[in-house]
Amino acid sequence: MSFRELPKIELHLHLEGAAPPALIRDIAKEKHTDISGAFDERGAYAFKDFPQFLKVYEAATSVLTSPRDYGRLTRAVLENCADQGAIYVESFLSPDFCGGGDVHAWRDYLAEIEEASREAERDTGIIHKGIVTCIRHFGPEAAKPIALCAAETAGDFIRGFGMGGDETVGHAGDYAWAFDCAREAGLEITSHAGEWGGPESIRETLRDLRPTRIGHGVGCFRDHALIDTLLENDITLEICPGSNVALGLFPSFTAHPIARLRDAGLKITVSTDDPPFFHTSLTREYEELSRAFGWTETDFSEINETALAAAFCDDETKTKLR
Ligand code: HPA
Ligand code: ZN
Repeated sequence: MSFRELPKIELHLHLEGAAPPALIRDIAKEKHTDISGAFDERGAYAFKDFPQFLKVYEAATSVLTSPRDYGRLTRAVLENCADQGAIYVESFLSPDFCGGGDVHAWRDYLAEIEEASREAERDTGIIHKGIVTCIRHFGPEAAKPIALCAAETAGDFIRGFGMGGDETVGHAGDYAWAFDCAREAGLEITSHAGEWGGPESIRETLRDLRPTRIGHGVGCFRDHALIDTLLENDITLEICPGSNVALGLFPSFTAHPIARLRDAGLKITVSTDDPPFFHTSLTREYEELSRAFGWTETDFSEINETALAAAFCDDETKTKLR
């Protein structure tokens, strides 16, 4: 069996970040919008560092202006995920981009995303769940209506609440109101931390947002006390090695700390983050990790079991996927 066919669980995927460049260009053309600056001469997303990545991400997303656009996006993304062997995917959904944080507009976007997810499940068997996500560099006040959108739509499809964006802005605790609101509505909690922010950012996130999972979290790798804290709190890391390498956090897969974190006993999982931006796919992540660390199908099966255990879906869905 090749890694492509291996059944996979993906826990860390930004829906807009998974948009095929061709789809974004088609939609831009239909709307007579010029976003050619977002692409290089070969048609790939073009950026040279993380701040520019966020700008290009937002430029590409700016052409997605209707629920119908998000239906098209969801169908395209889930088709690609299924093609990579993914059987279960959680994606980050941003009401900031889907109706500007207005609950009524968000419900319309969500209806299309859910319909596209049902179609994809019917066609390929893939199961998709959503994590509503606030965007850190939009600030703590902007995060409040996003949490209300999440709380209002918590249910079988919307399972969690999270935060992406620029981790170097403010403190995790500034967003505690939003996370408390989402938690009280029964949502599971994850947050990006320790991608750009280092150990202190992870500590603040654990203390103030109380997640069960951390997006990236790789910034803990030199801090043994923090690794102990992550172990004690049974935290699962959503690690995206190809994203970290593409953005220059580590020079190569070989230099990436994922194997050291796994050896330390941490619950690690493998995801793609924003695959076309980082020229990656689930299969490529597995292949590169196998090349770098000698990991085999047995290792990846164990990693996928860890991922399924930490997934935000209900137990019935987990049983079906085992
Ligand atoms: N990190 C932080 N925020 C993001 C990312 C990422 O890789 N992708 C989309 N939003
Ligand atoms: Zn991410």
